[in-house]
Amino acid sequence: MPQLKYPAIDWNQLRREAFPSSGSRRRDPSSWDQRARSFAKRNSGSLYARKFIALLRPQPHWTILDVGSGPGTLALPLARLVSSITCLDFSAEMLAIVRERCQEEGLDNIRTCRISWSEDWSKEQLPRHRVALASRSLGVADLKGAISRLSAHASDRVVVTDTVRHGPADPAAFQAIGRPLQSKPDYIYTLNLLYQLGYLARVEFIRLDEPLCYGSLAEALAGYAWMFPQLDHREEGLLKKYLRSIASRDQDGTITLHRAQVPTWAFISWNPHER
Ligand SMILES: C[S@@+](CC[C@H](N)C(=O)[O-])C[C@H]1O[C@@H](n2cnc3c(N)ncnc32)[C@H](O)[C@@H]1O
Repeated sequence: MPQLKYPAIDWNQLRREAFPSSGSRRRDPSSWDQRARSFAKRNSGSLYARKFIALLRPQPHWTILDVGSGPGTLALPLARLVSSITCLDFSAEMLAIVRERCQEEGLDNIRTCRISWSEDWSKEQLPRHRVALASRSLGVADLKGAISRLSAHASDRVVVTDTVRHGPADPAAFQAIGRPLQSKPDYIYTLNLLYQLGYLARVEFIRLDEPLCYGSLAEALAGYAWMFPQLDHREEGLLKKYLRSIASRDQDGTITLHRAQVPTWAFISWNPHER
């Protein structure tokens, strides 16, 4: 048997090959456009955003580049805490929500820029920011390229979050309806790649350990819909049964879901100049 040597492992390639073939759906801006409103509703003011910002410890003088910003999950609350933010995303609808919310909240220090990870960013004449973020937006084939772009655009710090194991999905729900959960490569590939590139990355964890609360079972079902595109009638029945099995009902009729596994994100940060 040939000896496997750590330095010979190409973590970028290994990660690329570990993506399920159906993962390409998520790489299309129109699929993000369609999900933008429901994503924004689910994530605004979320436990994830609060825990992320607590770990980030933003400084008033920071300028932040937020790559794959989505509807401003982080940019909107951060805008009041830092100097300015550039939101970069390839989904027009996600960025439209950022602009709408800036108007509603009277924020004037967020700029939006519609571009993808793989396009040439130089045409946007992006200044170098103090901090570059990529929160839950590393679904790219070329992770090495993404890391080098983030590092080149930040003077002080780069922060990414990546999945741990199954990510935000609920594995027990997949089991209950009989669909296989196609796990994507998680943070351990990213960490190994950063190590090989010489960065001194630090890892912390965001555990979403709050039970999920909904006004009704129908709302809870809608809250799970993003996990299961094209749910058929039989699957919907099985999902309802599963949700009932993990739900408790409060006196006011509120439904609380108690998931067996806590969704967890890896919060990885590094100084782009320290190697
Ligand atoms: C899961 S959302 C994360 C949004 C936000 N950062 C957060 O944590 O809530 C992923 C975002 O990345 C964007 N995205 C995905 N692939 C991209 C690509 N190749 N180039 C630019 N943006 C991309 C999507 O449009 C979406 O807004």
